[in-house]
Order: sequence, then C-alpha cells, then structure tokens
Amino acid sequence: MPRAHIVGWGKYIPPQVLTNDDLSRMVDTSDEWIITRTGIRERHVAAEGETTATMAIQAARQALEGAGIRPEKVDLIIVATATPDYLFPATACLIQDALGATRAAAFDLAAGCTGFVYALGVAAAMVESGTAQTVLVVGSETLSRITDWTDRNTCVLFGDGAGAVVLQAGPENGGILATVLGADGSGSNLLMLPAGGSRHPASHRTIAERMHFIRMQGRDVFRFAVRVIPAVTRQALTKAGLSLNDVTLFIPHQANGRIIEGAIRDLKLPPEKVYSNLEQYGNTSAASIPIALCEAVEEGRLKPGDVVVCVGFGAGLTWGATVLRWTHPQPAPVPTWQQFLRRLRYALVTIRSWLRHLWWKVFLRFGRE
Ligand code: COA
Repeated sequence: MPRAHIVGWGKYIPPQVLTNDDLSRMVDTSDEWIITRTGIRERHVAAEGETTATMAIQAARQALEGAGIRPEKVDLIIVATATPDYLFPATACLIQDALGATRAAAFDLAAGCTGFVYALGVAAAMVESGTAQTVLVVGSETLSRITDWTDRNTCVLFGDGAGAVVLQAGPENGGILATVLGADGSGSNLLMLPAGGSRHPASHRTIAERMHFIRMQGRDVFRFAVRVIPAVTRQALTKAGLSLNDVTLFIPHQANGRIIEGAIRDLKLPPEKVYSNLEQYGNTSAASIPIALCEAVEEGRLKPGDVVVCVGFGAGLTWGATVLRWTHPQPAPVPTWQQFLRRLRYALVTIRSWLRHLWWKVFLRFGRE
C-alpha cells in the first residue's frame, strides 16, 4: 500500500502585527496578563482585501513550488477552515481557480482547530486507496473577522494566517503512518460562532447580540485540551507501532502555552522536542499546525527519517493526531529565471480565470435570450 508523503510545504503570514500593548489600548487587559495566561506576545491580522482564500493561495503556491509540482497535476484540494470566504462556494474552489489546478476536485472541511489534522487524514486515505495521487491540503483562517474586539476573554487569543502541504504517494516505510480522529458534539456549545448558519441566520437581533463573533467557555476548553492531547498522542503512536521515545518533533495546535506545557508534562516529552511559535502568531486555528510544520522545516528541525506527531483539538469538540515519518530534504533554492517563469505562469492563470468568468457571463446572457 502506498503512503502519503509530504513533498511540499508553504505558509503565508499577513504582515500587519497586533501586539499585546496594542490590545491593551482596545480592551481592559495587559501584556503581562496575556503572556502569563497564554504565552502570546503578538498576532498577525489580515489587511483589508486579504481573505482566507488569498492567504491560502500564497501558501499553496509556495508548497507546490517547493515540491516542483505544477498545479495541473493536483487531483484534490482540501481547505480546512472555520472562516471560509463564503458559506458556499467552498474556499477550495476559489483556490483551485486561482492556481489553475484544472484537474483538481475541491472541498472545504470544517473541524475547528483540528481541521488540518482531519484534512491530512482524509487526504492520506485518498492517496493510500489510489483515489488521488497528488493532494493539496491547506489550513487557512481569517479569525480577525469573527473576533469580538470588545471581548477581552477571546480577542487576545486569535490571529490570521495560512499553511499548506502537498501530499504524494510514496514508499510504505515513510509518510503518514497513522491518524486518529475523534469528536464529541455534546461539547459543541463550549466554542462556537452562534449566528450566520441555518439556526440563526443574520438578522438585526443576531447583530445586536454580537452573535457573529466567537463565543467560548475558556476554562472548559482548557481542561478538555490538556486531557485530550496526551490521550490522542498515545493512541496515534500505538497505531503507528511507535513509542514516545521515537518522536523527534511534537507539533501541537498552537492555542495556549499553558495547554502545551500541561500536555507535554503528562507525556514527559522534553521541551526541545516540542515546536511552538505561539508567541508570534497566537491561535490561528486550522492554520496553526501547517504554519508550525513549515517553520520547523525552514529552521532545519526536521530531516529525513524523523518522526513527527501533529496534534489538534478544538471546536466541535474535535481532536486528532497524525504520526508521520519525514522523508523530504529542504528543496534547493530556485534560480531567478525559474522564479520568473512561475510568475509568468500565474499571470497566465489569472488571465485564464478572468476569461472563464467572462465566458460564464456571456453564456448566461445567451441562455436568457
Ligand atoms: N485580560 C485581563 N483579564 C482577563 C482577560 C484578559 N484578556 N481575560 C479574562 N480575564 C479575567 C477574567 O475576567 C477573570 O476575572 P475575574 O476573576 O474577575 O472574573 C480572570 O481574568 C480569570 O479568568 P479565567 O477565564 O479563569 O482565566 P484563565 O486562566 O482560564 O485564562 C484563557 C483564560 C481564555 C486564557 C484560558 O482559559 C484558555 O486559554 N482557555 C482555552 C482557550 C482556547 O485555547 N481556545 C481555543 C481552543 S482551539
């Protein structure tokens, strides 16, 4: 049976930074409180015009370029997100068009902050079954658009960004070795976006009651996370036939430094085996693990043969862990002429997309006559 190997990775972080001091001028909080309770110093926030799709496209291009794979080769695009550009069409379809991934099927996956781990699991199963050869998996979030900037309980936690990986079929002794996923909907009210769906469509009331913003019972989510991370990590390692001693790098969802500390204390993992970039980005939900994975590789913390465990948890409630054996070295720097060709190709894809949009308009007009 082939396994799904990560052959490309990329990320996009919006340049605009919001520090704890900035937040302390917006709500009744302080840098000291936020650092002590969460470990977060700053987060990046999308600028006007930046969306989940635009950030995902940047991350996806980088991942495909690093893998040396043309968008036409992609069979499937999965976007894990809680903040899609629209309820429909799927953000994955917007990305498919912008990349010129003409052969790809595309869909979004909603599993809160566990979304990327869920998407990796689905993608790996598609590759292993032979249904897809090349899959692009993206985690992208614009949480700043659903954050209540007057609520100090939540607004200090979240940030925006995107991460992406390309999976391809490869030998059995590497790639994604095991996935464990779980859910408990009885905890759905602990972390939610109450309005905007079929239960509470947008209305004057939903706006007046600030129901289009994240609602969270922080302490309960905290307790759930500290309990579930060690449990799902152990289950996934057992499924892969490995132990905690085999783990080279542990990449937990970047939600809160104290949650990560509690979990690794339980697992007795030394801190040098744990990746964290929470300080700079805050909680970017489904984007946090692919961004962390991408940065870990860029920093030279992963080499072929290393065992990585990615663990997610979040709204749903959902949780999941992936165990993988890293197989790909850092790609060589791309020569300037090749960079130029890539830019040219994407310019042509943009023109193609524009012509397709025009074609649909013309088609609709003829259809009406
Ligand atoms: N600045 C200052 N004070 C704050 C504050 C802020 N940003 N946010 C809350 N407080 C206050 C509370 O109002 C409360 O005051 P009170 O005692 O007068 O009522 C006090 O701090 C303690 O609040 P509490 O909620 O008990 O704090 P905590 O130690 O549990 O930390 C969280 C709060 C949100 C940081 C923590 O519960 C958490 O991280 N939970 C998990 C959230 C998460 O990761 N969600 C995403 C999962 S994917």
